[in-house]
Amino acid sequence: MDMTPQRWSTTAAYLDDVFGDQDEHLGSLMPRAIEAGLPDIAVSPAVGRFLMLLATMADARTIVEVGTLAGYSGTWLARGMHADGRLITLEPVEKHAAFAEDGFAACGLGDRVEVRRAAGLDGLPALVDELGAGSTDLVFLDAIKSEYPDYFPHANGLLRPGGLLVVDNALGSGDWWIGEPEGNRPAHDGADRLNRMLAQDPRYDAACLPIREGVTVARRK
Ligand SMILES: C[S@@+](CC[C@H](N)C(=O)[O-])C[C@H]1O[C@@H](n2cnc3c(N)ncnc32)[C@H](O)[C@@H]1O
Repeated sequence: MDMTPQRWSTTAAYLDDVFGDQDEHLGSLMPRAIEAGLPDIAVSPAVGRFLMLLATMADARTIVEVGTLAGYSGTWLARGMHADGRLITLEPVEKHAAFAEDGFAACGLGDRVEVRRAAGLDGLPALVDELGAGSTDLVFLDAIKSEYPDYFPHANGLLRPGGLLVVDNALGSGDWWIGEPEGNRPAHDGADRLNRMLAQDPRYDAACLPIREGVTVARRK
């Protein structure tokens, strides 16, 4: 299939147009975040809706996210979980964490979402100790792409059988795209390595959808 950048962005725009309907809170969240100086690197509305659907399909009561930013993807995820569910989202940058916390409170999710000031490689192992092995219904990775393979053992420790590992930027980001030669960009190599690990791991069933910058979904058997 001819997947030129032009065709790719046309597809992404189509998906947001058709599947990206969102309420006033979500629609204004990233514009307000960008005005406050946060980077414009959240998932798209269509990916957000997909995350909500996955949380619902996973019957999620406990969700862990790595990479909060302004809380855009976290809001979609939290809206897909049970009414008594909880989302713990890891974010080491105080400005991002504080903005996200305000947003979760403003849309009525403050009591079910915890923004934890931690980097993924510190926060994930701590959560395995704290929540216990097999405690988590869905883990969403959206932080440092070069660290993706190192997040995996901890995410695997958290996930229950039937739980979902969901990975954003599985195919690319602003300055790299999958299929480049290995060794040029750590982000490319991290995403590629995790895709291949999940595809070959007998404990998982995995697939990748070319939605926006690619979303890999792996179900722990
Ligand atoms: C792509 S953004 C997350 C976007 C968010 N998931 C969304 O779609 O709304 C990545 C976030 O990861 C945060 N971050 C940076 N280093 C990190 C680390 N080591 N562990 C976890 N998060 C990190 C960044 O500050 C940034 O807010």
